[in-house]
Amino acid sequence: MTIKLKKQVIEILSVLKKKKTEQIASLLANELNIDYIVLMAAVNDLIEYDLGGFKEEEINQISLNDEGRKYLEEGLPENQLLEIMRVSNAKEISMEDLLSKSKLDKHIFYIGLSNMRKNRWIAQSKATGENKIFLVTEKFPETDVEKFLKSFKAQPTRDYSKLSKSELIQYDLLNKRKLFTKQNKTQRSIFLTDKGKSIKMSDIKELKYISKITSEMLSSGTWRNYDLKPFDVSKSGPTLKAGKIHPLIRLINEIREVFISMGFTEIRGPIVESAFFNFDALFQPQDHPARELQDTFYLNNPKFAKLPEKDRVLAVKATHENGGDSKSLGWRYQWDENIAKQTVLRTHTTATTMRRLAQFYRTNDKTPVKVFCIDRVFRNEKLDKSHLAEFTQIEGIVIDENVNLSDLIGLLSEFYRKIGFKKIITRPGFFPYTEPSMEVSVYYDKLGEWLEMGGSGIFRPEVTYPWGIKDPTRVLAWGQGLERIAMLYYDRQDMRDLYINPIKWLRQQPY
Ligand code: PHE
Repeated sequence: MTIKLKKQVIEILSVLKKKKTEQIASLLANELNIDYIVLMAAVNDLIEYDLGGFKEEEINQISLNDEGRKYLEEGLPENQLLEIMRVSNAKEISMEDLLSKSKLDKHIFYIGLSNMRKNRWIAQSKATGENKIFLVTEKFPETDVEKFLKSFKAQPTRDYSKLSKSELIQYDLLNKRKLFTKQNKTQRSIFLTDKGKSIKMSDIKELKYISKITSEMLSSGTWRNYDLKPFDVSKSGPTLKAGKIHPLIRLINEIREVFISMGFTEIRGPIVESAFFNFDALFQPQDHPARELQDTFYLNNPKFAKLPEKDRVLAVKATHENGGDSKSLGWRYQWDENIAKQTVLRTHTTATTMRRLAQFYRTNDKTPVKVFCIDRVFRNEKLDKSHLAEFTQIEGIVIDENVNLSDLIGLLSEFYRKIGFKKIITRPGFFPYTEPSMEVSVYYDKLGEWLEMGGSGIFRPEVTYPWGIKDPTRVLAWGQGLERIAMLYYDRQDMRDLYINPIKWLRQQPY
């Protein structure tokens, strides 16, 4: 029976057959100049055909540390000192002289000296008043410690458990001098089974793996001469760290889908907005506290914005001063066009909603109009884990005849249900531009809590009449922050994370 093996496996098998004894895997890999992993993969193939195997053994590897390697090069301190005395042909030398000639560290010098004494090479005497060293022998055969040290020249690492008794004594001596490092390792040895030992190389054929069949191979039939490379489909591929859509954009896209599925169309508006659309058109009096600098970023350049059609500006002016044709009494003050012309960074997307009402008038639109806006707004807030100065609002409006508060509640329930909150409650609220106004809270299962999400209401006649939207046509509106939902959705405790972009969190996100 012939066995088919990859080329490299055949080579390794023949090496093992020649060597006859089992082989330490890491040494064999070195010898064959192949990767350890490649070798072990080949052994796996041998195992598959019951030709070979490997066993594991815990070994304590010992090797010289930096200091030990230095002594291997330059000799142990005692040998260095001896060499100095022998070179200068000095039978005796003062301790100071020897120290200065040796250029050794004082501490190392004394270790060397003490070993010289132990080796019975020297004697010390203070008889002349000077601390002197005398050589007391003429022969200096290589010491056992030296022999042991030198054995690391040929074999930089040795197996502790394989040291002989006398080597162990030398090891202990040098180890006390802190010249070694010891490491526990699992060592694998590769062997051939009886079948592996007896099989003839002529019974082994080379496996010619291909991973693709071309049309030529199919038509000529040569594909039969090849072996198809098996694929392990249960193995996962490498992790990709490719670019992906940012979680906030992903959430925005999902919310977009929700609006679109409910028949809404998206609108966008400028970030640099006039106070007119941001405040005045929303019936916020010109001395309203929200216009104060601490909330709103006013711009110096451009300092003023263009206002819409003169007659519409006058209509808004009239609602502020006396209610215009909205049947309201208005705020009863002198409205100033220059204040309305000031430029601001949009503080809410309701400014963009107002531009849509202006367009409704201009193009004489038909009802119903259902639009939404998900976009960036700016407020001069102190930053903390639940406040940003630059954030995103989600806003939806419906312009239609005879729509009322229950329609609004229905819309809200549907919207929040679609973005994942099954229960909502509404409470009376206040906005200068809606009447009635409602605060919306949703029930968050995971925390078992009601969370306030945003505001809603029916636009006041003072807001809609200047744009020709008159009873029984009304505007239902709601708006809220995106980041609040994002924090729940992505389980982030700090809103700033959404923009600081912790790389670990982003890597966990799906594509
Ligand atoms: N503009 C309001 C805000 O910024 C939200 C809102 C929108 C309220 C529409 C009522 C109607 O909080």
